[in-house]
Amino acid sequence: MRKILIIGIGAGNRDHITMQAVKALNSVDVFFAIDKGREKQELARLREEICETYIAGRSYRTVAAPDPERDRSPFAYEAAVKDWHEKRAAIFETMFATELGEDQCGAFLVWGDPSLYDSTLRIVADIHARGVVAFTYEVIPGVTSVQALAAAHKIPLNRIGGPVHVTTGRNLREGRTGRESDNVVVMLDGDCAFNSIDQDGLDIYWGAYVGTKDEILISGDLGEVAADIVRIRAEARARKGWIMDTYLLRRRDG
Ligand SMILES: C[S@@+](CC[C@H](N)C(=O)[O-])C[C@H]1O[C@@H](n2cnc3c(N)ncnc32)[C@H](O)[C@@H]1O
Repeated sequence: MRKILIIGIGAGNRDHITMQAVKALNSVDVFFAIDKGREKQELARLREEICETYIAGRSYRTVAAPDPERDRSPFAYEAAVKDWHEKRAAIFETMFATELGEDQCGAFLVWGDPSLYDSTLRIVADIHARGVVAFTYEVIPGVTSVQALAAAHKIPLNRIGGPVHVTTGRNLREGRTGRESDNVVVMLDGDCAFNSIDQDGLDIYWGAYVGTKDEILISGDLGEVAADIVRIRAEARARKGWIMDTYLLRRRDG
């Protein structure tokens, strides 16, 4: 039976790879990748480097498919994402059938950990449920960008016994702030959503390209450092052509 591995590869540092991931990498015949265009070439290169570094004495292939068109208008966001997932699922289903032999192993290398803001698990589960191509699948966890951020700032995410809320820049901007938590982790924020909330009493622990050689870290009173983050973020993005950043907003004691 065909087998699909969904392997978390960490947030940009080759050393984030776990021993479990190394063992999994060494059982793969075909890596499936979505071609995300030129701006993501640097990220694709890291995936290649991971394979070159950790796979020993085994031949493997990489099969790339074009990323399907996605409606990026702010209206009907969920419908657009659902439609995009379905298009991706159709592409992958065909790839499983045509690129993998009956007893071969295919894999997706997922940025960070597959459990956090990544569509691969949902799509593979959908393809599995459709039953057109028979396969088993397994998930190998990875280091998330959230863990990498906490480690870089040398902080725990929660206060003692307290909750942590993980959300997106879009949710924060639209007022879904997770107010019940004094610790809010924000991902997928293309537009500095921390500027759209009441900054009083909040500290921020911000990181871009965390875990990589380009890592940038800023922390402090949100009201005092927000403008610096906006400026430094814009400069870094212009310099590299892309940016990935994550931050923790923490309500100050007292
Ligand atoms: C599509 S989500 C994928 C998250 C990933 N599955 C994980 O476990 O970290 C992409 C978001 O993750 C965050 N991210 C990923 N890698 C990062 C890094 N090296 N430094 C800072 N943020 C990162 C950013 O918030 C980015 O917008």
